[in-house]
Order: sequence, then structure tokens, then C-alpha cells
Amino acid sequence: MTSPMRPKNKNILLKVVILGDGGVGKSCLMNRFMSNQFDENSFHTIGVEFLNKDIEIDNDKYTLQCWDTAGQERFKALRTPFYRGSDICLLTYAVNDRDSFKGLKHWREEFIKYADVDGDSFPFIVVGNKNDVSASEREIGPDEVLAWCQEFHVVSFIETSAKTSENVSAAFIMAVREWKKCERNTDLTDGGDAIDLTRTVQLDSRSKSSCCSGNRNSQLRQTHEVLQ
Ligand code: GTP
Ligand code: MG
Repeated sequence: MTSPMRPKNKNILLKVVILGDGGVGKSCLMNRFMSNQFDENSFHTIGVEFLNKDIEIDNDKYTLQCWDTAGQERFKALRTPFYRGSDICLLTYAVNDRDSFKGLKHWREEFIKYADVDGDSFPFIVVGNKNDVSASEREIGPDEVLAWCQEFHVVSFIETSAKTSENVSAAFIMAVREWKKCERNTDLTDGGDAIDLTRTVQLDSRSKSSCCSGNRNSQLRQTHEVLQ
């Protein structure tokens, strides 16, 4: 259903922030989603970097502006200023790293504080990456994660592999659908007239993609994908 206030065929810009401990695979998830590539030797991110992708989901057109952040604690001051204005937050851990799962609580709290959002109604998605690892390497199973999600009122959880690409697009699509559900709820409570039309924009593809970024590939790229 298209909002009555949104012009048809216009892109909806959504800012998606990817958070999680250093090494869980945030940059690899983003690169798999953006350009279907995987880097075995991905370096730690310094600061933040964003890339845009145009995507069609359920007959609506979106530009997902995905912000990849540095998970290492020493880069906290570089990443937190970029949380404001986010529409969706992916809370990421690696299924073979229990500490990174424990870190989700901290990431959720950090995001709520610096994005200044209501944690109970914001569209958080929990992403368990590296699900390609062997059963003996796995440290976290879905049951534990689902219990965590219930405790913190997170509705969506998905396991992914940036290495094999399993569920990577699905995670972003799930995130957008979760955002849409939240938007619908806001529509209903606001009588349907509170859509922020300033968020429906066309992006300038010449603009810079990164701030304080230590990644090599810092040019903004726009890719196009139509999902059935
Ligand atoms: P920071 O930038 O420090 O926050 O780390 P990050 O979360 O961005 O991790 P990054 O994407 O750089 O990946 C860290 C390491 O995990 C790299 O060696 C990747 O090759 C590896 N990796 C990422 N995703 C996967 C995955 O799905 N499966 C496996 N097996 N390895 C992965
Ligand atoms: Mg990174």
C-alpha cells in the first residue's frame, strides 16, 4: 500500500545503519549486498562509510543508504555522530563468536542513545552472520537469539553469510518490510497525514560516500536490483 501523501514512482530514501562488534562481517555484508563481492581479507573499518543501492520491494522503490560503521571500541567517537536520522538499524553478530552476540545489548543501547530514538518501536533487525561456519565452530544458535529478541522487543532475526551470500539480500528486504510496518503503525496513530515528504529524494550519485573512512573503496556507487 502506498501512502496517500507519497508521490507514485518516487524513491523512498532509507538510512540503514549496520552495527556490531569488530570482525563480525559488517563490511562484507554491505559489499555482498551492494556489489555481490566478498573479501576474505577485509580490513577493520575506521569511522564510517556509506553506499547507496536502489531496490524495489513489494512494488515500492527504495534507495537504501547503508552506513557501515567501525565496530572497534576505539572508533566510537567517529561512528556515533552518524546514527541520527536512521530509519533502520541492523544489529549484527557472528554465529561463531559468543562475545559478539553478548555485544548486541551494548550496540542497541548505543544506537538508541545517539540516534535519540524510542528503542521499543524502532525497526531493529538482528543479523547472525557467518552461518557458513561448521557446526563445531558455531557458538550461538537461533533459540538463544530469539529469546534475546523477545526480551528487547525486536521482531526480526535472520542468519546470513556474506561469504556464500545466503540471506544477505533477504536481510535488507526484511529490514525494509519491518520499517514499513512501523511506518504503517505511525500512519495509523497519526491519522495518515504525518508522512515526511522530505525523505522522498533523488540522490546525487556524484556525492562522496564516506566520512572518516579507512576503506579503500570510498566512491559512492548506485546499483539497481528488482526483487520479485
Ligand atoms: P570492523 O570493520 O572492524 O567493525 O569489522 P567488520 O564487522 O566490518 O568485519 P569484516 O566485514 O571486515 O569481516 C571480518 C572478517 O570476517 C574478514 O576476514 C571476512 O572475510 C570474514 N567474514 C565476513 N563475513 C563472513 C561470513 O559470512 N563468513 C565467513 N566465514 N567469514 C566472513
Ligand atoms: Mg568493517
